[in-house]
Parts: sequence; C-alpha cells; structure tokens
Amino acid sequence: MTTEFASKEITMGDPGPTGRFGTFGGRYVPESLVPACIELEEAFRDAWADPAFHAELDHILKSYGGRPTPVTECGRLSRELGVRLLLKREDLAHTGSHKLNNVIGQGLLARRMGKSKLIAETGAGQHGVASATAAALFGMECIVYMGEVDTQRQELNVFRMELLGATVVPVTSGSRTLKDAVNEAMRAWVATVDDTHYCLGSVMGPHPYPWMVRQFQSVIGHEARGQCRDLLDGGDPDLVVACAGGGSNAAGIFAGFADATASALVAVEAAGGAAVTTGIPGILHGMRSALIQDETGQILEAESISAGLDYPGIGPEHAHLADIGRARYEAVDDHEVMDAFQLLARTEGILPALESAHALAWVMRAARSGEIAAGSTVLINLSGRGDKDVAQVRDILKGRS
Ligand SMILES: Cc1ncc(COP(=O)(O)O)c(C=O)c1O
Repeated sequence: MTTEFASKEITMGDPGPTGRFGTFGGRYVPESLVPACIELEEAFRDAWADPAFHAELDHILKSYGGRPTPVTECGRLSRELGVRLLLKREDLAHTGSHKLNNVIGQGLLARRMGKSKLIAETGAGQHGVASATAAALFGMECIVYMGEVDTQRQELNVFRMELLGATVVPVTSGSRTLKDAVNEAMRAWVATVDDTHYCLGSVMGPHPYPWMVRQFQSVIGHEARGQCRDLLDGGDPDLVVACAGGGSNAAGIFAGFADATASALVAVEAAGGAAVTTGIPGILHGMRSALIQDETGQILEAESISAGLDYPGIGPEHAHLADIGRARYEAVDDHEVMDAFQLLARTEGILPALESAHALAWVMRAARSGEIAAGSTVLINLSGRGDKDVAQVRDILKGRS
C-alpha cells in the first residue's frame, strides 16, 4: 500500500482571505466576532512575515520548549510488526505534548496585539496546561474552559493548570466535554474581545485559526522531514501517521510531507468520533467541516477513551485533504488503543498518551493484516506522553481483568 495514497498535488498552502480549503473552512461567526477574527488574521499575517517574530518563536521553542524533538527508531517493535517504525517524539516537548508549539506562537501573537488575557478550551487538559504555561511565561491572565466530565477524567491536569496560575471553569452544558468547552470559550471571547485573545487549541474554528494553528504546528513536520532524510539516506518515509481529534498534530506533521509524493499520509480518529469516515459536512464552531450528526443535523456526542479525541468534528483542512485524496482517514476502537498503549510501553519503554496510541493502534492493525507492506518505513507522530492517562488506564485494566 505504500504509495497509492500519495498525490502529486502540492497542498497545505495559504487558504487566502476566505479561509477556505476547497469547500471547507470559512468564518461562520456572529457579527460581533468578525472584527476580532479579521484583526487576528491581519496580526498573524504580519507576524508570520516578520523575521523577528520567527527568531523569537524559534528561540523560545528551543531554549524553553525542548525543540527539536528527536525521531526515535523502534527496534523491538519494528521487528514485531515487520515494518521500520520511527516515532517523532512530541511527548518529549515541555508540558508533554505538541500543544506547546501552538500556544507559544499564539501567546507571542497575543502579546504583539496588546492583549493581556488568554482564554482557552481543553479536552484532555494538555492544551489547557500548555495555555496556562504560556500565560505564566508571558505574564498573562488565563482562564481555561473544560467540560465537567473531562475535569473528572483529567483531575491531575486540572491541578497542574491551577498550579500554573490559571482558573479552570468546568462546563456543565451539553455532553460536558470538549465541544461544550469550545462553545463556552467562544461565548466568553465575544464578551471580552478587547483585552483577551482566544487561544484555540487545534486546527479548527473560524478562519484564521485552522491555518494559523497548522502553521504553528508545522515545525513538527519540517523537523521530521529533515530527521527522516538523515535516517533514510535522503529518502522520505512510506507512511506518515498521526492521531486526529481537531487535527493539529496531524496537520503539523503532514505540513512537512505534503509535497513528499512518496509519503502516504494517514490520520487516525477515535471510532466514536470519526468525523471524516462517518460524518457529513456541516457547520460547527465557526467552520464548515465533516461532523458527526444525525439526519436532522443535530451534532452527535463523540465517545472515546481519550478526552483529547472526544470531538464530533475535525479541522476543515482535513476534510479537504480527505476529499482530494491526499490523506487517508482511519478509525480505531478503545480496545485497540489499550493494546497499543501497552505494547509500546513493553517493547520500547515509552508510555504514550492515549490519543497518540490511536495512531499506533492503526499501524499495528494494518501491519499485521498486510495492508502496510512488510518492510515499509512508517513515521508516527507520538503527539504526547501518557503520564496523564496512567490512572485511567489502571482503572480500565482493573475493570477488564
Ligand atoms: C497528546 C494529544 N494528542 C492529540 C490530541 C488531539 O488534538 P489534535 O488532533 O489537535 O492534535 C490531544 C488533545 O488534547 C492530545 O493531548
């Protein structure tokens, strides 16, 4: 299967002022938020074209964030699966996941725009922790909206955010998970836009967020492309695989390989929130994208073992990449994820985040079934570390045995 999904079309560029990726994306917000989105787009375009902004961003990511993160060859697991497995180690970034890349970028941008407060939504708590970290670093106030269910699943991350000086607001509406936290954060932004930046945590929401967050996360893909070339005698991996909730770690790594015609791109969703494989186009949280919904257009509740993938939609650029065939979207269930979590721990000594274990779960399935040809080179974006999930995994394993 190694190259059949690769396309010659060069994608993942600037979506222009409309923020459209094919028929997806756009800016579906109340009139009161349009000026804020336009102000943010202008500020981002200006900053992204400014070498001084890049110099400061790169410096902080290196000296504070721990970049570049390494690419690790998995000797034992490669032998077990019959493929050459490489991991891009975002779990080793400060705060334990790729989320830091985005919040350092948005924190710097907020400061440049003269904003003194950050608000953020969070599911697994990783984006909340990262936002609280950036707020502490830049001396800003920080409020994090988190579904009540997630505050219980990710108790430790709530405490981490509070230690970092943030206020965590439990959201009690709807399914009390990530979708509802985004709703609440958007409502709060409308009321406080003068002094507040909404630090959105994934490649979703109204333009310019999907594009801006992808650009901030593209550091993953650009680093990984060079690191793979060093390891693969100048070649690119046959497959680049990442989990997808909103889709930011996947977009970040895909951005480095979008023009690598030998590399197939695969994003792995949670089966209970598989927006691309089971969803249909609709509008939510300011964007047109693939969403899981019923026949009357009601958004369905996503259900997954991992709070970070409990989202009924996906970023609009992913819906587009699926549409044009440049990336392929797969889904795995919670049992496969638990198996992947344990296998990586025992063969390589790495506890992955449950989110990241989705990517490995699909690779395990596809390598064992022969869908991935033996000997293929597979790069997985290991988006985060599993420390936050250990208590939950313990409870599940106890319940199972
Ligand atoms: C470690 C980790 N990976 C992945 C995700 C999913 O987000 P995204 O699809 O934007 O990368 C999360 C979300 O919280 C996360 O914490």
